[in-house]
Formats: sequence, C-alpha cells, structure tokens
Amino acid sequence: MSSSLRIAINGYGRIGRCFLRALYESPLKNTLQIVSINEPADLATIAYLSRFDSTHGVFPGKIEIGADCLIVDGRKIGVTHACVPEEVDWKGIGVDLLIECSGCYTQRQDFDRFVEAGCERLLISQPGRSAQDVDLTVVYGINHGELGRDQRIVSNASCTTNAVVPVLDQLHRAFGIGHVFLTTLHSVMNDQPLIDGYHHSDLRRTRSAMQSMIPVGTGLAQGVERFLPQLAGRVQAKAIRVPILNVSAIDVVVELGCDATAREINLLLSEAAAAQPGLIAYSVDPHASIDFSHNPHSVIVDGSQTRINGPRFANLLLWFDNEWGYANRMLDVANYWSKRFR
Ligand SMILES: NC(=O)c1ccc[n+]([C@@H]2O[C@H](COP(=O)([O-])OP(=O)(O)OC[C@H]3O[C@@H](n4cnc5c(N)ncnc54)[C@H](OP(=O)(O)O)[C@@H]3O)[C@@H](O)[C@H]2O)c1
Repeated sequence: MSSSLRIAINGYGRIGRCFLRALYESPLKNTLQIVSINEPADLATIAYLSRFDSTHGVFPGKIEIGADCLIVDGRKIGVTHACVPEEVDWKGIGVDLLIECSGCYTQRQDFDRFVEAGCERLLISQPGRSAQDVDLTVVYGINHGELGRDQRIVSNASCTTNAVVPVLDQLHRAFGIGHVFLTTLHSVMNDQPLIDGYHHSDLRRTRSAMQSMIPVGTGLAQGVERFLPQLAGRVQAKAIRVPILNVSAIDVVVELGCDATAREINLLLSEAAAAQPGLIAYSVDPHASIDFSHNPHSVIVDGSQTRINGPRFANLLLWFDNEWGYANRMLDVANYWSKRFR
C-alpha cells in the first residue's frame, strides 16, 4: 500500500460516504487509499452511518472505531472534525488528492486554502462558481483525457451534467441540436428540511422535502454549455426536487438539426451504451426509479419513453443514481487523473 494514491475526504455526507464505499466495492481499493476523513460529526456517528445506509444498504465490509480513526476492512483512516481547511494538518497526513464533498466551497480562493494547507490536489463534488474557479471541469467519458499534471483543482461537474452531457453529445454529433429544454426530477437532498423550517436564502427550501415536489434553482444549462459551447444560449433547464430518497430523472426536450425517428435516436443511444459500458446504459424495460438505486452508470437512457413530435422535436427520459453514479465517476476521475500526475 505504500505507493498507493493517498486520498482524503472533506465532508463525509452522502457523496463523501458513497465515494468511500464505491472505492471499497471496486478493485481500485488495492491501488487507491483513503487515509483521512474530515467531517464535523463525531466519530461514533461517522462509523454508524458508514455501516448502515438507508439507501444503499449495510456496508459490505467491516467498520470499526479506533483511536481518532475509522477502521474499514482492517485499514485505518484518520478522522478529524475541523470546519476550516487550515485546522487540519493535511501536509503532515500526506494527501495526494483531496475529495472535497462538503459542498461549502465553490471559489478558487477557498480551494487554494486547502492547497496552501498541504493538499496536493483537489477534486470537487460540484461545479466551481465559474469555470475560472477551477483548473478543469470534468465529465468522465467526455473530456477526462484533458486531465494532467498541470491541474491542481478539478471539478467533477454535477450529477445532472454527468447524466445529460453524454446523451446531448451523441445527439448533437448525429443530428445537430437547435434548442434544448431540460427538466430534472431530483430526489431530496440534505439541504432540505424534513418538515417546514427556516432557510436563509431560498424560500422554497423552507418547505417539507417529503410532502411536496419543490422547484429549485439549477445551474444545469451553464453546466451543459461548458461542455457543448456550440449550444451556448440555446439550453434552458429547471429542476424539481421530488419526495424520494434517491435516483433522479431528466426529461429532455430537444429540437434536432435534421429529421429523425424515435427508432433512429434509440439505435444511436443503444450503440453509445454498448461503446461506453459503465457510463451509458440503455433499457426498454418498464422501469420505476427505484430500479436504478446503486446503479453506477452516469445515465440510463429509457428507450421506452423516447418520443418524436413532428420530424425534429424529440423527447427523452434519462435516469441516474445521483449519489452512486456520481460517486463512481469521482472515483473514475481520481483513478485516471492520478495516473497522469504521479
Ligand atoms: N447528494 C447528491 O445527489 C449529490 C450529487 C452530486 C453532487 N453533490 C454535491 O456534493 C456536495 C455534498 O452533497 P451531499 O449530498 O453529500 O451533502 P451532505 O450529505 O450534506 O454532506 C456534506 C457533509 O459535509 C459536512 N460539512 C459541512 N461543513 C463542513 C466543513 N466546513 N468542512 C467539512 N465538512 C463539512 C456536513 O456536515 P453537517 O451535516 O454537520 O453540516 C455533511 O456531513 C454538494 O455540493 C452537492 O451539490 C451531491
């Protein structure tokens, strides 16, 4: 293990824990090593939530508590409880790559604090506030080949961007795209209250997550345009949080650049799935969202729901496990990037 990539996780919530678990459920556990977790919660709760997960089930390994550490399948992971980057001795720990999953930081000036405190590189679990706040924004399967030694701060984009960009990319290459409407139906998140409660900046986020479908703001249009600049100004997106624990969908309405049939679109996307196994999947089974819980793909195209209205208006339904698919892409990026910078 001495030459393994040394990884730390900052913010051990839904995505942080899924990242750790994705690693332990993958052969990569022999080459990537999580050495440190920083999370404000106490160690007993960290261990408990690592072991028992209401969405993904019981951890398929052994979780124990040591002195200031979590022991996962016999491997020690130091645990700290700081709320600011400078409070952790990242340099002393020896961190090759920090997986930033707290959701607290979106700007370069904040990411730099981790670098100055000793983290060699950062992979962020959300988009930077602007493209310039990170060195690169990655959707694995689209532009991960750009990862290299020169970058220090990389964003893994958003879960919705990881789901929709590979599909729009295929459609654009095959048919061209005029305009796009995207509606995300996203499962609840920890930034919503279980019953009505105060939120400092968003009135809608004061409302009970489990009682309503709640429209929320989304940066998905900008996220898509970052990867498909040809579509700049032609993408609109909205997002609705729906009262389920996990798995999300995107309703895609796209004006194609040439005539196409639903059959041609499905053939294109089923071939893309065959060409990119692990990233894109395709199914025509009669699904409900729960079928995709713990599914590691970035996107599953539901071919049974593809529709054409007139020769150029296409409507598609995409599924994705917003936690597990995304955490697995962070793992893919960490693995690929580390081979480039080590
Ligand atoms: N959930 C998803 O489906 C999903 C998918 C893709 C990307 N993301 C993104 O990933 C990020 C995290 O989302 P999440 O769903 O994992 O949220 P989460 O469950 O709330 O996890 C965030 C964790 O970070 C901890 N934390 C808060 N302040 C911290 C600090 N200053 N330093 C270190 N840790 C801190 C939180 O502790 P407390 O609870 O004590 O505050 C919490 O345990 C967000 O940016 C989100 O947009 C989420």
